[in-house]
Amino acid sequence: MSLRINQKGFFTNANRTRNVDTTTNRQQRECEEAVENNFQRFLHQQASVGLKDPPLLRDKHLTYLLKGLIHLSSSFESLDASRPWLVYWITQSLYLLNETLSNDFIDDICNFLHRCQHPDGGFGGGPGQVAHLAPTYAAVNALCLLRNKKAYKVINREKLSAWLKTIRDPSNGSFSLHVDGESDIRATYCAASVATLCQLEDLPDLFENTAEWVSNCQTYEGGFGACPGAEAHGGYSFCGYATLLLLDRESICDRDSLLRWAVNRQMAFEGGFQGRTNKLVDGCYSFWVGAILPLIQAVQRKKPVRDSQDKNITNHQPLFDTIAAQEYVLLCCQGEKTGGFTDRPKTEARTDFYHTCYCLSGLSLFQDDGQDQTTAVCGGDSNALRNTHPLFNIGPECAREAMDHYSK
Ligand code: FPP
Ligand code: ZN
Repeated sequence: MSLRINQKGFFTNANRTRNVDTTTNRQQRECEEAVENNFQRFLHQQASVGLKDPPLLRDKHLTYLLKGLIHLSSSFESLDASRPWLVYWITQSLYLLNETLSNDFIDDICNFLHRCQHPDGGFGGGPGQVAHLAPTYAAVNALCLLRNKKAYKVINREKLSAWLKTIRDPSNGSFSLHVDGESDIRATYCAASVATLCQLEDLPDLFENTAEWVSNCQTYEGGFGACPGAEAHGGYSFCGYATLLLLDRESICDRDSLLRWAVNRQMAFEGGFQGRTNKLVDGCYSFWVGAILPLIQAVQRKKPVRDSQDKNITNHQPLFDTIAAQEYVLLCCQGEKTGGFTDRPKTEARTDFYHTCYCLSGLSLFQDDGQDQTTAVCGGDSNALRNTHPLFNIGPECAREAMDHYSK
């Protein structure tokens, strides 16, 4: 029996305010009950069919994702403003599941994203829409995932560079998501990520003072908020820390307090991660918070190791319970009937492509101990996913090949 949740004994959460009757406590209790039900259901199955660990429902997810891609390519004309995101979420999920796209799909995606590119640079949420950094990040990631010259050619790098300059605030180095928008840490991350993948020129000028602005978003809790003074949150903390690493300015932030904050987002009972203090567990934070930890660990490993105790901590010790985190995703987020993933177990939980991408991406990170995967993967080889790069959230070789291509 390998379920970590058993070893802990159910309900070990020692929150002193737990019994106070507030909406937050009620929702937390309901959530824990739903998680416990899912675990109990699996324990019964375990006894009857001899399953050791929860399986990844690979075929169900592939059917769900391929159906989504077919639907998307037949409805590229719809008015929805987040279609580059849908393309990215599906493409990244299929990549992690080791599924190869047909040449027809690759052509469709290239042609569609080409039409989303704005004549003045950057990508919009659909053809003819205003350029916005979020779909720009999604489009660039999706094109890099295709690992193909036609895809690389879609991006007009000179125009992208010129557009990024128009959404930068020269007074403090921050970026907004679109012209006349407000500064936001997601924008600095999207800008730094696409500028790195596309190997844009003049990066020192483009990102002058950006690291300082980002470090001002780190809060007293240790995580980062959307802008200076805002509440720490997993999504924004990923954006902040990843931006500093992309700009090679990681040392400007308080790494130890970020680490303390991030590891404490793993829920004692559920095993998955929450996005902020006193909120519910959610499968998507498997990536947003889960990616911060290997990034910190990678930085720590490069540090000179001074004594043997230090060596122990920085080399092989995982910073959090990676098996409990995998069990949460596998037992509480998979759509058993529909395929795809959701945030947490509840009656009528619906899966979506966003949670599918970030649950699978987080699961892939949890499985990767940087060494021998056999013990790190809950459920063994049949549950194993391809690796993802924790800075960009695309395959590591997809990122490398794109940067090699654009740097030539
Ligand atoms: C809270 O929602 C959600 C946010 C405050 C935004 C989170 C930001 C990201 C996920 C990062 C996006 C990154 C890019 C690259 C665009 P909620 O209140 O419904 O959820 P919660 O209860 O879990 O906080
Ligand atoms: Zn979520």
